[in-house]
Amino acid sequence: MLTMIFAHRGYSASYPENTMKAFKEAEKTGCDGIELDVQLTKDGEVVVIHDEKVDRTTNGSGYVKDFTFKEIRKLDASYQHKMLFKKELIPSLREVLEWMKSNQLICNIELKNGIIPYEGMEEKVISLIREYEMSNRVVISSFNHYSIVYCYRIAPEIETAPLLAEGLYMPWVYAQSIRAKAIHPKHLAASNELIVSAMENGIAVRPYTVNKESDMKRLLDVGCTAFITDDPVRALRVKKQVKK
Ligand code: G3P
Ligand code: CA
Repeated sequence: MLTMIFAHRGYSASYPENTMKAFKEAEKTGCDGIELDVQLTKDGEVVVIHDEKVDRTTNGSGYVKDFTFKEIRKLDASYQHKMLFKKELIPSLREVLEWMKSNQLICNIELKNGIIPYEGMEEKVISLIREYEMSNRVVISSFNHYSIVYCYRIAPEIETAPLLAEGLYMPWVYAQSIRAKAIHPKHLAASNELIVSAMENGIAVRPYTVNKESDMKRLLDVGCTAFITDDPVRALRVKKQVKK
């Protein structure tokens, strides 16, 4: 199986991260999947944004949890790139899943509930995935492994993947113990030996966030399941060169 390319927060090297623009531009590159981050608004809408606060990526200020969905939709999520792009809204997860009906992408949904323990987030995300019949095109990941296990318990049909920021001994054994089908390690914590052993033990490996050509080449050479990158165009170019 060829290594798949996932666009991190969409095609975030060139477009405002976690926006429909970034996801649509990622799809145009021909990559295999997108990665996105979710948080919950005050009125319980699952929204696509990386930080707990809106300050870095929008023209607003404050915690996502303190905005209603209607309020958060007034913000401009392309604010950092305002000279280049028109206004972009913070998408709801529903909007992304609706758009996914028009393509074949895989969607890696990262639950951002390690800092704020959004109550009911897992149920809401899973209910949306089921409503849109996307269970076989979604991977749920998180640094919050309690949440990963909870997702498996309530939706065993959806693939889960713990995010691993540091070296973990025999992570495939850990993954099997929590019924995860994959691990998403930081690429620096994913040696070739680790990748091969995990895959031989039936655990998919999708390192993040891989932006340097030399790192991409290493993962392609070792035949990693996929990797997550801000720049899917660069990744696809390197993949083409490696295939030759
Ligand atoms: O899913 C991989 C990666 O996105 C995890 O880190 O901080 O970019 O969400 P972060
Ligand atoms: Ca993420």
